[in-house]
Amino acid sequence: MNNNAPIGIFDSGMGGLSVWQEIAEGLPCESLIFFGDGARCPYGERSREEILRFTVESVERLLAEGCKMIVVACNTATAVAIEYLREHYPQVPFVGLEPAVKPAALTTKSGTVAVLATARSLEGELFLHTSAQYADRVNILTAVGEGFVEIVEHGEENSPAAEQAVRRVIEPLIEKGADKIVLGCTHYPFLRQTIERVIGDRDVEVIDSGRAVCRRVAQLLDNFDLWADEDNEPKFEFMTLADDDYLDRLIFRAYGCFSEEETEEDE
Ligand code: DGL
Repeated sequence: MNNNAPIGIFDSGMGGLSVWQEIAEGLPCESLIFFGDGARCPYGERSREEILRFTVESVERLLAEGCKMIVVACNTATAVAIEYLREHYPQVPFVGLEPAVKPAALTTKSGTVAVLATARSLEGELFLHTSAQYADRVNILTAVGEGFVEIVEHGEENSPAAEQAVRRVIEPLIEKGADKIVLGCTHYPFLRQTIERVIGDRDVEVIDSGRAVCRRVAQLLDNFDLWADEDNEPKFEFMTLADDDYLDRLIFRAYGCFSEEETEEDE
């Protein structure tokens, strides 16, 4: 395997760019190919069979591009497909996404944490298993971020409708005592500002998995001896099953993830 081959990052749509951003910033010598399905997003309410099929198709495409590792930057696809992928592609290192229950459970002061994710993620064995590990110490509330994925896909996260949707989901969780809100869907970090606006000055922390995933990718690059060369000039590519307009928006959002300084340096 060529160490300078790209890392493939997959999501149902644009949400995985929140993970892409962490990896692009955290592992600056690595080339990345981001595949955002887009055409069939959201996955969250689809059947397990469909999600598995779509995920395998996308992974096949990334492997055909020569990716040395695949990040399933979608909690929903991870919940449904990660075991299948590891079993059927044993030579490929996979990193999956899981709601960051542990850091929330270990730092909550109120003893109640809330996990926001899609319906399929919340009923997945991975999540049920992890939350069971903390259930005796911590009260874990769950909620689906109704409408959140669509809001992010349409780039409407700063709209009044977005704030309304966020308030509808978040308020009851805070009222029930949650002081940690875990973003268990890669689309949700794009709503972080809106979520924090709704939280206001209440002592509630928002936690996502981006950094932890980047650390896990680095660990696997170590384990499999797959680090790109230090003088590798990384390339960023973007693929979608949706149309050119979607691809443009995807790329615009990806580069918008960087701070202004970094974007200027890139130019
Ligand atoms: N971004 C995905 C996740 O992390 C799924 C969103 C969706 O397609 O429903 O779960």
